[in-house]
Amino acid sequence: MSKELIRLSNCSMAFDGEYVLKDINLYFNDKEFLTLLGPSGCGKTTTLRIIGGFQKPTSGDVFFDGVRINDVLPHKRAVNTIFQKYALFPHLNVYENIAFGLKLQRQNGKKLSKAEISGRVSEMLDVVSLKGFEKRDVTSLSGGQQQRVAIARALVNRPKVLLLDEPLGALDMRLRKDMQSELKRIQQATGITFIYVTHDQEEALAMSDTVVVMEGGAIQQIGTPEDIYNEPKNAFVADFIGESNILDGIMHSDGVVELFGRKFQCLDGGFSPMEPVDVVIRPEDIDIVDAAEGTLKGTVASITFRGVLYDIIVDFHGFKWLIQTTDLSPIGTEIGIKIDPDGIHIMKKSEFSGMYGDYSSFSDKYDDIGDAESELELEEAEGGYET
Ligand SMILES: Nc1ncnc2c1ncn2[C@@H]1O[C@H](COP(=O)(O)OP(=O)(O)OP(=O)(O)O)[C@@H](O)[C@H]1O
Ligand SMILES: [Mg+2]
Repeated sequence: MSKELIRLSNCSMAFDGEYVLKDINLYFNDKEFLTLLGPSGCGKTTTLRIIGGFQKPTSGDVFFDGVRINDVLPHKRAVNTIFQKYALFPHLNVYENIAFGLKLQRQNGKKLSKAEISGRVSEMLDVVSLKGFEKRDVTSLSGGQQQRVAIARALVNRPKVLLLDEPLGALDMRLRKDMQSELKRIQQATGITFIYVTHDQEEALAMSDTVVVMEGGAIQQIGTPEDIYNEPKNAFVADFIGESNILDGIMHSDGVVELFGRKFQCLDGGFSPMEPVDVVIRPEDIDIVDAAEGTLKGTVASITFRGVLYDIIVDFHGFKWLIQTTDLSPIGTEIGIKIDPDGIHIMKKSEFSGMYGDYSSFSDKYDDIGDAESELELEEAEGGYET
C-alpha cells in the first residue's frame, strides 16, 4: 500500500496581491514519481518551492508525514532539491562535489567519519553510473555527466523526497531521453519519492506514476499518464497532452453524440439530454475510408511525413482535423473517415472550451458549420447510428 508522505492543503500563493496559486490540494505518496506538468508561468516552481520550504504559502498548510511543516526551514525538511541551474562547485572534483553535504552533516553532534563519507559517495557513484570519475574536474564532464553528479549530490543526503525542477532542460534531445530512463531507474532503485517539474508532456508521460496537470495556478487534472491521455478532463488537458482534435458536440443520450450534424456512437454517458459538450478525437483514432463509406467526408489539405506515419490535415467544412495514418492520400483527395466509439471522448464544457483543437489558422469558418449540407446530413442520419 502506498503511504501518503506530503500534503498540500488549500495552498494559495499571492505576490503583491496577485494569486499565482489558487487553492492547491494535492498529496504525494511515498516512493511515488509524481510530475507537475504545465506551461510556463502556471505555478510549477512555486508549488515546488512551497514543498521545499523556500516559500511560505499565503494561505493553506503543508504536511509531512501528517505533521504541519509550514514553519520548518528548508534544511530541516527531509527534502532535497535539484534546481534547473544545478550549479556544481567548479573548483571541486566529482568526489568532493558529492561529499560536500556529508562533510557538513553532524550526527549526535559529531562529524561523519571519512570512511562513512567515502562509502556513501561510492554508493552514489554506483547509482548514477559514474564509478571511476571521482577525481575528474566537474568542468570537464559532459552535460549529462554533470547532471548525474548533481543527482548524486542530492541523493547522498538520503532525502525522503527529491524535488527536481526541469532538471533536463539544458540537455539536447538524445541526452534528455537517456537521462529520463536513468532518472526513472535511480528513482526505482532508491525508492525515494520524486517530485518532478516539467513543461514537456512527453517527458511527463514517459517517467511518471502520477501526472498533475496545472494551468493558471490551478490543478486541472491528476492521474496516471494513461488516464490523462485517454480521459482528459477538459479542453486544456486534451490540447496540452498529445495531439487532439477538439470539437463542439451535442450529447443526445448516453453513448450518442452529434458532431457536424451527424450522430456518432461513443462510450461516455451521464450528461443531460442535448447537453453541449467538448469532444476530443485523437489523430491516431481516425480511420480513413472511401469518401462514399465515411461517416464524414473531407478533403486532404496537407501532408507531412513523420517517419512511421503521415500527419495529414483534412478539411471538413473549414474545420481542420489532424489525422495520423499510414495510408497516403494525395492533397485534394476527398476522403471519408470513420471513428470507433472508443476513439471518441466526451468532456464537459469548461472555461477552456473553444480555445483549442482546430488545426487551421482560419478556423473562423467553423462558425458556418450549420450549413445546408450538414442539416441535410442530420436528417439522413436520424434513426441510424454510425459505428
Ligand atoms: N517571487 C515572485 N514575485 C512575483 N511573482 C512571482 C514570484 N515567483 C513567481 N512569480 C509569478 O508566479 C507565476 C508562477 O511562476 P512559477 O515560477 O511557479 O511558474 P512555472 O510554472 O515554474 O513556469 P516556468 O515553466 O516558466 O518555470 C508567474 O507568473 C511568476 O511570474
Ligand atoms: Mg519554473
